[in-house]
Amino acid sequence: MAQQNFTLIKPDDWHLHLRDGDALRTTVPHTARCFERAVIMPNLKPPVVKVSDALVYRERILQSVPEGATFSPLMTLYLTDNLPEDELRLLADEPHVVAVKYYPAGATTNSDSGVTSIEKVMPALEIMATLGIPLLMHGEVTDHEVDIFDREKHFIDQILCPLRANLPELKIVLEHITTRQAVEFVSGENEQVGATITVHHLLFNRNDMLASGVKPHFYCLPILKRDIHQSALIDAATSGNPSFFLGTDSAPHALGDKESDCGCAGIYTAPAAIELYAEVFEQVGALDKLENFASQFGPRFYGLDTNTETIQLTRSEWRMPAHFEFGNSTVVPVRAGERLSWRLRGGTT
Ligand code: DOR
Ligand code: ZN
Repeated sequence: MAQQNFTLIKPDDWHLHLRDGDALRTTVPHTARCFERAVIMPNLKPPVVKVSDALVYRERILQSVPEGATFSPLMTLYLTDNLPEDELRLLADEPHVVAVKYYPAGATTNSDSGVTSIEKVMPALEIMATLGIPLLMHGEVTDHEVDIFDREKHFIDQILCPLRANLPELKIVLEHITTRQAVEFVSGENEQVGATITVHHLLFNRNDMLASGVKPHFYCLPILKRDIHQSALIDAATSGNPSFFLGTDSAPHALGDKESDCGCAGIYTAPAAIELYAEVFEQVGALDKLENFASQFGPRFYGLDTNTETIQLTRSEWRMPAHFEFGNSTVVPVRAGERLSWRLRGGTT
């Protein structure tokens, strides 16, 4: 008989967008229901470029943690062409801020203040390498001539390989990988390089977004790729290779910003993230590999302790709500209105 319950060391989400303001009342409880820690992306408007701003943002997040829950946001700074050295030194002494996020300017949501060329940020990256601060990279080139489905591969060839050669001491996470090439690149690197894998890139490929009508709620960046890439990601996530760990990139947008003639990129997976990872791992007979991917390999990469609590998942069908409140709007979650097969014990979605 198929397994009915399983217990997992409490997982962490190593890549998360919580947004700000009233949205936190929805996003924070959804993540805090099962994740102990999460790396919080800094692409707010304006972006989080100072340690002091990151700490104030962290306080706003903590105000939305439900009574009785424990949740520790791990903050990041947004890398601009001129992030001051002082901020990096402050970051290195501040345990609540753990990394710097690299957005190529124009690559995605609120990335206008991002990096315009890698040369401009090399001095900052050199300091980060010395201080042991990880660089979290959105790995896509932004050139209009480059096909959107090839942008990750080009980033690896043009930016990442030279960066690894020039600055091998820098710790790098290639975030939300989406291609076979990214899996191969990370697999061939040493322990200085890790990668997060989202649940939506494991569950879906570009047919889900495009094959029977354009579905804006499947639009994210990096964009969903063809099925051979999806298979490579599933193999990587379930391989037991510690370089690959859980990062949802759960990225909520108000309904009207998704269902629009110029819709925003992002899929809101937080309300069922761990349940959906369990679904994928079970489909390939690898439920026993989930704990390492979700709870062990991330802290190992970041040099942090593994959580001590546990969570339990039970095989029990439930239906994802069609939408959730989101400030003065609503947000449509992944699998809206559909059935899910795993349920978190004591979960409140
Ligand atoms: O789909 C995405 N949404 N990809 C990103 O890189 C950013 C994120 C967001 O902030 O909406
Ligand atoms: Zn992201």
